[in-house]
Amino acid sequence: MAITLNTKHMKEFVSDHELAAIEPQVAAAHKTLTEGTGLGNDFLGWTTLPRDYDKEEFSRIKAAAKKIQSDSDILVVIGIGGSYLGARAAIELLCSPFYNNKKKDTPDIYFAGNNISADYLNTIVELCEGRDVSVNIISKSGTTTEPALAFRVFRDMLEKKYGKEGAKGRIYATTDKAKGTLKQLSDKEGYETFVIPDDVGGRYSVLTAVGLLPMAVAGIDLDQVMAGAAQAMEDFSDPDMAKNDCYRYAALRNILYRKGKSVELLVSYEPAFTMMNEWFKQLFGESEGKDGKGLLPASVVFSTDLHSMGQFIQEGRRLMFETVVEIKKPKKDFYIQSDPANFDGLNFLAEQNMSVVNEKAMQGTVLAHTQGGVPNIILEVPQIDASEFGYMVYFFEKACAISGYLLAVNPFNQPGVESYKKNMFALLGKPGYEDQKADLEAKLK
Ligand code: PA5
Repeated sequence: MAITLNTKHMKEFVSDHELAAIEPQVAAAHKTLTEGTGLGNDFLGWTTLPRDYDKEEFSRIKAAAKKIQSDSDILVVIGIGGSYLGARAAIELLCSPFYNNKKKDTPDIYFAGNNISADYLNTIVELCEGRDVSVNIISKSGTTTEPALAFRVFRDMLEKKYGKEGAKGRIYATTDKAKGTLKQLSDKEGYETFVIPDDVGGRYSVLTAVGLLPMAVAGIDLDQVMAGAAQAMEDFSDPDMAKNDCYRYAALRNILYRKGKSVELLVSYEPAFTMMNEWFKQLFGESEGKDGKGLLPASVVFSTDLHSMGQFIQEGRRLMFETVVEIKKPKKDFYIQSDPANFDGLNFLAEQNMSVVNEKAMQGTVLAHTQGGVPNIILEVPQIDASEFGYMVYFFEKACAISGYLLAVNPFNQPGVESYKKNMFALLGKPGYEDQKADLEAKLK
């Protein structure tokens, strides 16, 4: 298990003295994080989660997953933001982006409640027709509009299909241990509940029941996931930046930010990484983007996006740097055969593995983009498996926390998320928002 920071192509963008200059700040951020003295210090549960996770609940998660696998064709996972992205990223990366279409002995998994689209919801409802369904509603607050709305629909569906008693055995609620409407409802109705710990914020919660239950249902080895995260917890505990790739990555991205870069593009050459990109964007976007500061996290999947965003990256406004996640080995390679007729002239690619072509595309792109003035940080990941996933999650979470402290923001809150909600509630006529409603409607006229 490893993530190795490769800075071979960074020399012309960040010099050794710049790294040396930021070292004391990284050491200070490390101290702040480990001593729990910084902003948002009541949300540091994720730092020790790989070691201190609730073992009893862990077994219950596995047992619930087994039951869902045995009595359900479909699991509908309802949640948004941190209560959704990690599980989906894990399933797409570790199983397949085509997980639901694959021949398998685990249930299909659909993610609902992460938008307010009638068409999206209707499609999942239709897909559930005639099939056995379980639901995992995930919401720390229990009041988030999107998942709450979807839960109404699927709870009603299950109660109609299986009766109140039958539905009860098919609804699993992942929420706060004591407070919130979802917890109250679960206790009243007798749903099995799993806990999002008080000191773990949504976007840092993938290694709690939030991510683990859907992962287990998909057949992902949870022990491996936690073992990977535990290894990363140990590997990235060294305060010395020279020995800590996670901290050097945080330092490099901060230096580039201070030098005027405003966008970090997370790059992968694996389409299965697409939802990991989304998870990364939430993690860094919500953690850093505040007080008028922060790198805008964006993402691309190459070589697909080389045929769209590639032009901008090569020659457009010089506002970004790239962080390339280089997965060294595919799960299974594909051998390219030679074609005796060679109509397409592609025989120069034949008699070798597809991964070699992908690797050369990556190397060529890194050289082209750095020559075009785009710094490229490379994160080398040996392969994709459950332990590497756990390792990667911890790496990015810690890099994000250190980055937030380097930026002097609270990496664990998200006050800005409330603004749209207030406006939406006012426009929809939620009681208590009457004054704002008139104001907003006047602005819309
Ligand atoms: O990172 C966060 O805290 C947010 O993205 C939340 O996860 C998201 O808003 C969902 O919140 P909740 O779990 O309370 O429904």
